[in-house]
Amino acid sequence: MDYQDLLEIARDRRSCRRFKKDPVPTELIDKILDIARYSPSAANSQPWEFVVAKDSAMKRAISKEVVSVYKEAKRREPTFNFKAAVQSQLFTAPVLIVVCGDRRRQQAYPALLRGRELLRQSLAICAYSIQLAATCFGLATAWATVQWGPPEVAVKKLLSIPEVFTVDHIIPIGYPDIDKERRTRALTPVRERAHFRRELRDIVHCERYDMEKYRSDEEVNEFIWSKTVTRIRPG
Ligand SMILES: Cc1cc2nc3c(=O)[nH]c(=O)nc-3n(C[C@H](O)[C@H](O)[C@H](O)COP(=O)(O)O)c2cc1C
Repeated sequence: MDYQDLLEIARDRRSCRRFKKDPVPTELIDKILDIARYSPSAANSQPWEFVVAKDSAMKRAISKEVVSVYKEAKRREPTFNFKAAVQSQLFTAPVLIVVCGDRRRQQAYPALLRGRELLRQSLAICAYSIQLAATCFGLATAWATVQWGPPEVAVKKLLSIPEVFTVDHIIPIGYPDIDKERRTRALTPVRERAHFRRELRDIVHCERYDMEKYRSDEEVNEFIWSKTVTRIRPG
């Protein structure tokens, strides 16, 4: 594999929020998770375990719990451009990979560093490995954040995940329904904005931080409102 192949996989991996019903072969899920386990992790603690969920009733139950927190976030912050219908679609993917993190494995690194951050970072890298591997097979993925609070507790209970595990992320996997995604009005801001990436020249500094590139609070705020997918100025 060369740079161009990797670049294509990185570019092709795009979050998908409308999936076809076609099942995903089990061998592909196995291959994807085989790549995930090669992810780097803090102190090589390998905190991940995966629940592969395909049962429709279970996926609906998970969706209900996870989406509730987004609804609450929207209630508290009306500027959060959240559509429940979009988020719940994530859980209609044929397969959900629930990425579980074993908190006990945090003891692999010294107490001073033991904050939950290293666990989180390891799990996030693992989730991205899943996404990249799925992309190789023409599969689409998304990212459903769970992390803390009642949804995490509920998801663990639904899936009989032991207390010691965290559930930060669920990665839906399936074949993308590109037409449906294109036609879904609620996805318009996502379609318009999600492909945007900051230029290399704006984010790379040579030898030391170049203050010419430092963005003021106002500029960062402007970025958030004009480029991100869930902060949309009211029309
Ligand atoms: C940590 C993290 C959490 C995310 N959580 C969600 C989520 O809960 N729901 C969702 O639809 N997308 C979620 N996303 C996907 C981002 O919105 C998406 O990656 C971003 O808009 C860029 O689009 P792309 O993935 O198509 O390149 C998440 C991504 C990351 C890295």
